[in-house]
Amino acid sequence: MITLANDLSVLGTSSRAYLSERHEHFIDGRFVAGSSGKLIAVVDPTSGQTVGQVPAGEAEDIDRAVAAARRAFESGPWHRMRGGERERLLLKLADLLEANAQEFSEIESVNSGRILPATRAFDVDLSVSYLRYMAGWATKIHGQTLEPTVPYVPGGNFFGMTLREPVGVVGAITPWNVPLGQAIWKIAPALATGCTLVLKPAEQTPLTALRFARLIAEAGIPEGVINVVTGYGETAGAALVAHPGIDKISFTGSTQVGRLIGEIAARSMKHVTLELGGKSPMVVLDDADPEVTIPGTAMGIFANHGQNCCAGSRLFVHEKLFDRIVEGIAEAARSIRLGPALAPDTQMGPLVSSSQQARVMGYIKSGREQGASVVVGGEALPGPGAYVLPTVLADVRPDMRVVCEEIFGPVLTVARFSDLNDVLRRANDTQFGLGASVWTRNLDRAHWFIRNLRAGTVWVNTHGVLDLAVPFGGVKHSGIGHELGEEAIRHHTVLKSAIISLQNVV
Ligand code: NAI
Ligand code: MG
Repeated sequence: MITLANDLSVLGTSSRAYLSERHEHFIDGRFVAGSSGKLIAVVDPTSGQTVGQVPAGEAEDIDRAVAAARRAFESGPWHRMRGGERERLLLKLADLLEANAQEFSEIESVNSGRILPATRAFDVDLSVSYLRYMAGWATKIHGQTLEPTVPYVPGGNFFGMTLREPVGVVGAITPWNVPLGQAIWKIAPALATGCTLVLKPAEQTPLTALRFARLIAEAGIPEGVINVVTGYGETAGAALVAHPGIDKISFTGSTQVGRLIGEIAARSMKHVTLELGGKSPMVVLDDADPEVTIPGTAMGIFANHGQNCCAGSRLFVHEKLFDRIVEGIAEAARSIRLGPALAPDTQMGPLVSSSQQARVMGYIKSGREQGASVVVGGEALPGPGAYVLPTVLADVRPDMRVVCEEIFGPVLTVARFSDLNDVLRRANDTQFGLGASVWTRNLDRAHWFIRNLRAGTVWVNTHGVLDLAVPFGGVKHSGIGHELGEEAIRHHTVLKSAIISLQNVV
């Protein structure tokens, strides 16, 4: 048995203190116990040990949170607040998160199994930047003025305009792969636009969202504007989606649950943003630079342990470069140091949970059974930690489950090609359409792939780079709508038109 458990004694005093506290829902500006008294154990995936408990929220808790969010949206200080004031609150929130960065990063690493530099960069620092980016938008939301003709009213004098108004109460449901980061992607645009929100974080990783709720209170955000209810998807999540007091659902997670949410939301005409699964291709052309392509594609799949919606999980390499690129990626995979999230020399921690480990190992097993060969990895580490070795599978066919389905672990499939039209068809031969990358030094080919790959984002000579200013969303079964950038403002507002009949003054 290998023990790669976190040494929790290295934690700072504030995160250690937070982990030992009792956790409750955050509703209407206060921390409150769950209505049922049932709890969910929060686990450190490096050891399988429980590091805390949160309430298993139910419909009753969701009802209270939605009622608070509704009140805050329709009346009270938030309802009257102007853009400049919301900007100030967002900036305050960003400062508070920045001041507590180390504590948030430590809590996130213990709970999600990801190394401190990763939680620091993607859950904390990027969130600070996004809060500031969205603070800027709060004063820049605007409609248009229009010049109506109204031909059937001769001599009429009409003025037209549009207003962008907040969509209302948002129900946000987040996954466990970048827990605080995903929560802030939902919270920041809601605050910028004047919406209110009820967040249901993933049951595996609820701690940083609850810790963030304290900052919400500290920043002086009015009661009821942001609420956090912890719980399982099938109970708390489902109650949020079905709730008549919710105007929009913003969901990130599996395609399977996204479809269900889309169906239910449609019945009550809720707006939806669905950011779902992927099976993103990385296409390496014969003119690609191996020095850039090998580390870049290795990161494309292994970043965040492959627990990335836009992970580059299907690699296609031109036959001229196939052996060199695949051997280079295999070498990179072999050299990644697995270990506990808190250890300074660790490069990759465990997956988020033992059930995710079992799921990923099930895929690797199915790949072997269907005839794939393991170039590197293919094993879980024995022991209580949820570790899976970075894995490359070759000799794959398009009908294999490892090629068709999202694995959400450090597993890459590799295939060769010789013809551009053929590889384009194969890259697009998937139900998903979240990301795709092309690796080439040829400008014309890069543009041809950008135009013809069916994906929400196409990267060139990199994979998976996201930025706050660049909208992110999927096509096909990877989802509906966009997060980040100006699009996030559009997706949290509704357009109202006004027509005014003016009398001639003289
Ligand atoms: P999931 O989609 O079930 O969970 C994501 C969130 O949805 C969680 O907060 C969960 O509580 C909630 N949820 C689950 N069922 C719900 C329901 N009926 N109504 C409302 N909310 C519900 O994902 P899960 O089970 O954690 O992971 C399974 C697979 O899903 C992964 O292996 C991966 O392939 C995929 N996934 C994809 C993500 C992405 O960002 N594209 C994120 C998480 C998972
Ligand atoms: Mg699920």
